[in-house]
Amino acid sequence: MKLDVLVAPAFLKEDDLTGCQCAVIDVLRATSTIITALVSGAAAVHPCLDIAEARRDVSGLGRERYLLGGEDMGQHIPGFDMGNSPLEYMVEDVVAGKDIYFYTSNGTGAIRRAHAGSGKPVYIAALLNLSAVSSAIVKAASTGSLDGIVILCAGRYGNPSAEDFFCAGLLVRKLISGLRESGIETQPGDSAIIAAGFATAREGQRIDVLASSDHGRFLRSIGFESDLEFASELDFYDAVPIFDGERVALLDRAS
Ligand code: MLT
Repeated sequence: MKLDVLVAPAFLKEDDLTGCQCAVIDVLRATSTIITALVSGAAAVHPCLDIAEARRDVSGLGRERYLLGGEDMGQHIPGFDMGNSPLEYMVEDVVAGKDIYFYTSNGTGAIRRAHAGSGKPVYIAALLNLSAVSSAIVKAASTGSLDGIVILCAGRYGNPSAEDFFCAGLLVRKLISGLRESGIETQPGDSAIIAAGFATAREGQRIDVLASSDHGRFLRSIGFESDLEFASELDFYDAVPIFDGERVALLDRAS
């Protein structure tokens, strides 16, 4: 089974995702926030391509049904209900039962591109749910219907980001061993091999990886240090969000 990592959507070529199972990672912070919102009881998260799309999508919806959330340059978007701090979305009273229309600078676009390119449901991954996503992908691969697995990092404004690449490397390692246990050998591409090496070298330093990254430093400078601490938690949730092209909802793993 082919297994590779793309360091940012800008590195995506036309056929890279065809027939592949795709997982998208944006540790700081979009995928960490989406996972948290859904575990806190949100009905669904709708990843939007821009702020105007989010506003358009909610026009005509009953005000009690939805929340607008996300960020622009890390900051709360004027007129939106919520920002992009995962900690904000832990409040069940606020998010439970709501459809969240969500725009972020890099993460939501990466999720949409992954679905458009693969034509398959997309797994939403972060450090917070690494093992759960790995198990779900191994299960999907065991059905024999996949041409490969691609981990797409959201990156930062077209560039790679250390925290996403680190998380991708940890996921590569878990997938290789999980697939092997299921009798499937993987052929990791060069990016997957390099990501796994980076993850191995920095394995015990998760918070440092996040804090010393470009985006980690930026988030600290604007007051979001606690988001870094939370997003660096490994396997905090046993949950797998999946994007079906319209909405992200929790995968029912009984099925
Ligand atoms: C993004 O999608 O670029 C991020 O989630 C930005 C952020 O940290 O809010």
